[in-house]
Amino acid sequence: MDSITLLFLPQLSSGARIREVAPDRSEIEVPRKLDQIAPDVNAYTFTFDGSLLGEIRSMYERLAAETLNDPENAHLLAGGRKVELELGSGEERLYATSFGEAPLLWLSNDDDHTYRVFERFFRSLGIEDEVRELVDHDERIVVYCGFFVVGNVSEQAKWHVDYQDRANGYTLLTPLYDLDEKHGHLVYEGANGKLYRYRYDLNEAILFGDGFPHTTEPYPKTEALRVLVSLTLGTDRLEHWEVLQTIASQSRYLRMPCGHQRGACVCLDSSP
Ligand SMILES: [Fe+2]
Repeated sequence: MDSITLLFLPQLSSGARIREVAPDRSEIEVPRKLDQIAPDVNAYTFTFDGSLLGEIRSMYERLAAETLNDPENAHLLAGGRKVELELGSGEERLYATSFGEAPLLWLSNDDDHTYRVFERFFRSLGIEDEVRELVDHDERIVVYCGFFVVGNVSEQAKWHVDYQDRANGYTLLTPLYDLDEKHGHLVYEGANGKLYRYRYDLNEAILFGDGFPHTTEPYPKTEALRVLVSLTLGTDRLEHWEVLQTIASQSRYLRMPCGHQRGACVCLDSSP
């Protein structure tokens, strides 16, 4: 981190409003929730009622917290080898994997039950109308997959984008617990090529799509786990799957843009 300059941008508040039609057909103005973090940057933040995370938090604590907080399992978060692990049982499972040897675990929904917990959270946020404005779509925004991103160290920046250009997909990230003061936040490249830091705060989420280079801010080993909730979501148009499918390698259970579970979906086979 010594070699980069971090700038701190004030959050832009658009103050703009969108119109909805009330049952009596009169138009009502609804405050916009999404604030673009800077002009020409494909990223937005919004706040939400913290109680909406309750179901997700209790799922994490039921299925994963004990295993990951057990000192005997410290190797799972230490990096240096590929981790693959099933958590939970029966119809309530998460699948934990690292990407290569990096010391970061991605716990993805691994069945319909756990998927729906993440999906309910998204629907409860009340941002779907605004996300529809960001992606090419037919009717609705589809949640493809939900994750917990868990770590306690990040030694090196790993710059990447989550999507290819014109994927019509977005990543939502929000902390499940307050971050430790030593935990890393998010560093991204602005449209001017300079680097900025986004600070994760409880009850606030960041939503970003293609053309958004970013990395976890490096941080030293900490006692407390850093736990983020992450969703991939976006278009319901299957024609975008070819560009979007980079997300397919991130989990075993995934919903396709058509809404069907990958592997149990024949829409691609039957599309012209
Ligand atoms: Fe990312």
